Amino acid sequence: MIPAAGMGTRLGEPVPKAFVEVGGVTLLERSVTAALASGVVDDVVVAVPEELIDRARQVAPAARVVVGGSERSDSVRAALAVTDADLVLVHDAARPLTPPGLFAAVVDALIAGAEAVVPGLPVADTLKRVDDADLVADTVDRSVLRAVQTPQGFTARLLRRAHESAQDATDDAGLVEALGVPVHVIAGDAMAFKVTTPFDLRLARLLA
Ligand code: CTP
Ligand code: MG
Repeated sequence: MIPAAGMGTRLGEPVPKAFVEVGGVTLLERSVTAALASGVVDDVVVAVPEELIDRARQVAPAARVVVGGSERSDSVRAALAVTDADLVLVHDAARPLTPPGLFAAVVDALIAGAEAVVPGLPVADTLKRVDDADLVADTVDRSVLRAVQTPQGFTARLLRRAHESAQDATDDAGLVEALGVPVHVIAGDAMAFKVTTPFDLRLARLLA
């Protein structure tokens, strides 16, 4: 499932983020290509803004296309509605340089028995909790923190249950955590970074 229906407000490009190009190829097409290149994905569903359905079919002919929703979770739910797969990966279109091997690593962990798997990286910066006046309250122990990426993998049964709550979360694992089901973290990859800001887009264009 590739949620690609966001507007990319923080990026500020004239087209929704998944349709922005890096090296002449849209983020959406790059994400679909990486998923399929992994060799572990046999069906791709992308969720896009309604007005870009035809454009999505052009740039990602290998994928099935559905209309996304107003929140990320709505888009994931729309994609989930059209699959009967047993294992599902959810991957942000906004992570165009994700190595195919990361998809395979997530699936390996699912096959090994995990019901929910996310890639995560250690956090490099020192983290401070602040109050309303931007005064430092304390320094957070970063050794127990991970910056979590996609693709995130789940048994379809669990992911459906997590999405029944009709809530929104910045990632799918957040909804699974709310059910009290363990979420396993595997090693992430710096190349799976998310294009969120203009800086990230510059970085992607340099690295592509
Ligand atoms: N997404 C989606 N449907 C939404 C919102 C987000 O499918 N209603 C997707 C985005 O297209 C993106 C991924 O979820 O691939 C991660 O979201 P984010 O980085 O927040 O992208 P946008 O919502 O597009 O960006 P912004 O929040 O800056 O508007
Ligand atoms: Mg968003």
